[in-house]
Amino acid sequence: MRPLLLIGCGAFGRVHLAALARLGLSDRVLGVEPDPAMRAACPGLRFVADLAEGLAQCGAAIIATPVPTHAALARQVLEAGLDLFLEKPATETAAESAALARLAAARGRIVQLGLYFRFHPKAQALHAMARAGEFGRLHYLAARMSGLKRARGDSGALLNDAVHFADLLPWIAGAAPIQVFAQIADPLGRGREDLAVIQLRFASGLIGLIEAGCVLPGRWPDTVVPGAETRKEVMVAGSAALAEVDFATEEFTLRRGAHEAGPGGAWLPRHAPREVPAIPAADPVAVVAAELAAFLRAVESRVPQGPDLIEGGVAPLAILDAARRSAQDHRVVEVAP
Ligand SMILES: NC(=O)c1ccc[n+]([C@@H]2O[C@H](COP(=O)([O-])OP(=O)(O)OC[C@H]3O[C@@H](n4cnc5c(N)ncnc54)[C@H](O)[C@@H]3O)[C@@H](O)[C@H]2O)c1
Repeated sequence: MRPLLLIGCGAFGRVHLAALARLGLSDRVLGVEPDPAMRAACPGLRFVADLAEGLAQCGAAIIATPVPTHAALARQVLEAGLDLFLEKPATETAAESAALARLAAARGRIVQLGLYFRFHPKAQALHAMARAGEFGRLHYLAARMSGLKRARGDSGALLNDAVHFADLLPWIAGAAPIQVFAQIADPLGRGREDLAVIQLRFASGLIGLIEAGCVLPGRWPDTVVPGAETRKEVMVAGSAALAEVDFATEEFTLRRGAHEAGPGGAWLPRHAPREVPAIPAADPVAVVAAELAAFLRAVESRVPQGPDLIEGGVAPLAILDAARRSAQDHRVVEVAP
């Protein structure tokens, strides 16, 4: 098998390197990284001189570069005939992802999106339970990814944080939302939305909420960014069960049961005590290793094993595009199908 090209060896590129080491694949990786300090932070990694050299030598690439570079780099990777693992967010807009999806299809290339929670055991458990009907009829999905951390130079809260849940919540729901109402704010006055609150409505009547931002109290140390404090929480509520997952502490709690009609028109909760299902914990390196193992199986089998540019790119970005329009126009916006 031809080598794998890691494009971008910054903070998350190095999580990819650790994941590849865990998969026993360190020898198969070449890096391309313009910043000498970042190259120095990757001892043992062989670097190519430039992207063209890397594309000529490798069979597949991982893009872990700043968000505004994704669309052009992904185009170069696909035009060179390589398969691609593209870190989230795929691109800045749904239209850019749709154009890349057409290119990947025309070239017969595998593209898998780096949507971390798709490969986190606790998010997978929420998805499996929802799809098996264990929550009954879903009525609410909420996700919070916020805290006190660096405001990234390349993106705001929509593309950096909310994108995770613009993917995860529809995946759990088994459907895309039809409408979005969002509020965004720029409390640092730096020209980016560092705070976003997005309400979702699905055709079934299910409603949802995503809160994202880096200017709010954090609760736990971030496992990827040193010094950052974070909250990463998801709530799933349905007619037969309620679940809460705190991804920072790996707590997963479940209440099975339903409300039943009681005296005087009241409805009373008839829920069993909290259950703590035995679902394994996973550190970021383990999750990325699972993502990359799936990508490499897809490269080998030519059968996608994770979210592609439509499911993991166009779909969540259509929600974020709608959120941006909603916040600008102060109105509910339909999500483009
Ligand atoms: N899935 C997740 O949970 C998760 C977590 C963190 C970051 N990310 C994503 O990973 C990507 C990188 O984030 P990061 O935190 O590592 O950023 P970063 O700024 O720490 O690193 C980006 C690196 O890319 C390099 N780079 C820039 N342009 C390049 C080019 N043309 N070719 C090669 N290298 C180039 C920079 O020099 C830098 O070292 C972003 O898309 C981000 O959204 C995903």
